[in-house]
Amino acid sequence: MAEALRVGIAGLGTVGASVARVLRDKAAELTRQCGRDIIVSAISARDRKRERGIDLSSANWFDDPVKMAQTAEIDVFVELIGGDEGSARASVKAALEAGRHVVTANKALLAKHGVALAEIAEKKGVLLNYEAAVAGGIPVIKTMREAMAGNSVTRVFGILNGTCNYILTRMEAEGVSFDVVLKDAQRLGYAEADPTFDIEGHDTAHKLSILTSLAFGTKIAANDIYMEGISNITQADIRAAGDLGYRIKLLGVAQRTESGIEQRVHPTMVPTASVIAQVHGVTNAVAIETDILGELLLSGPGAGGNATASAVIGDIADIAKSRPGFQHGPVFGRPAKELKPYKKAQMRSHAGGYFIRLTVHDRIGVFAAIAKRMADNDISLESIVQHAVSGEAAAQKTVILVTHETTEAAVRKAVDGITKDGHLTDKPQVIRIERAG
Ligand SMILES: NC(=O)c1ccc[n+]([C@@H]2O[C@H](COP(=O)([O-])OP(=O)(O)OC[C@H]3O[C@@H](n4cnc5c(N)ncnc54)[C@H](OP(=O)(O)O)[C@@H]3O)[C@@H](O)[C@H]2O)c1
Repeated sequence: MAEALRVGIAGLGTVGASVARVLRDKAAELTRQCGRDIIVSAISARDRKRERGIDLSSANWFDDPVKMAQTAEIDVFVELIGGDEGSARASVKAALEAGRHVVTANKALLAKHGVALAEIAEKKGVLLNYEAAVAGGIPVIKTMREAMAGNSVTRVFGILNGTCNYILTRMEAEGVSFDVVLKDAQRLGYAEADPTFDIEGHDTAHKLSILTSLAFGTKIAANDIYMEGISNITQADIRAAGDLGYRIKLLGVAQRTESGIEQRVHPTMVPTASVIAQVHGVTNAVAIETDILGELLLSGPGAGGNATASAVIGDIADIAKSRPGFQHGPVFGRPAKELKPYKKAQMRSHAGGYFIRLTVHDRIGVFAAIAKRMADNDISLESIVQHAVSGEAAAQKTVILVTHETTEAAVRKAVDGITKDGHLTDKPQVIRIERAG
């Protein structure tokens, strides 16, 4: 049997401790599958004394993950620290430069430095595997990078943040407000104490930027993503969506258009009957549309110790199975040096259907003025419905418009015009509608 593969794990938190535990519990099975043992020979975390629920006394402890990355005691450096700078970046870079394979779950690091790190990995002839960085346990990286060779991707989109999907699912099921569900999600550990990163779309954007690069062979451009979070989604939107045959999801979408590539993260209305609309709670999903395959949807657990560890261990096992001297495939599907610059499509030229919810004064002429603003901007309407607002706000009406395909620029102009007309009593709500099978 080949020599054991020696793994160093940096970061022993939710994911790192799970990886160590599964490597121990499934050691015999992994040896059978990989043809060699996989052993944890080195570990690093901040607090040496912290109880991790697993005996790691046979592994050498390193206070400094960079030192561990450089030691000759390991073949694979597994980075599970997190963060786009600091120890995570320094140790991954050091490991690659020292000729060690790297496995990471760190989307923030890859979104910011992925291409530079890939260049080092490819120069050194080592693997930089990152299956767990996008959609946790769902094997989307392998699917896009390996199983879909030869396919040209036209669009990739998905539910990439479990916290947001959990909140939207409960808002719809229980008829309660965003704030109430968020507090409960924090209490249950589904949302961070500071939830901004998740609910305002940053986490989804990081993952989307990686998928975009794989899909279109472009350099990662995480700062060029149009982003709106879910914090302004109300019960009125969720109810109206349901009445119209839609469900609201926070989607990350990357799409090839005539003017470039769109990368956008925003609340989206998807048809209630579509497969992605059936993805509830913390579950993630990624849909990939290609010329050869058509549409593929993968769904499953997007976070959590074990699910994420499953992806990390799959990456480690690939390294265990790889033959010495074998030329590894490029990190982002094409050699890092050949990734094209990302040509951004302007959000204003985004074409699609729109849901527009307006709260207006209940007076004569308002309806006609709204219809005129739409017509002036060449927006054709699929439906326009008005409801009286009951209770204290009885002098108001809600007007809900659904447009046929139009452009973002036209919708913004029309809504600005309606706002200037002085008929609105509240901020207008605009939600994009996404085609989904
Ligand atoms: N949690 C998930 O469900 C999930 C899903 C997908 C991807 N990820 C990614 O996986 C990575 C790890 O996430 P996590 O949830 O496991 O984080 P976590 O629970 O906060 O664990 C982080 C670990 O890193 C260690 N650490 C922090 N700074 C360090 C340093 N300077 N040197 C050495 N170790 C250091 C910590 O040590 P101490 O324990 O001693 O404090 C801790 O063990 C992140 O990139 C995250 O985005 C997580």
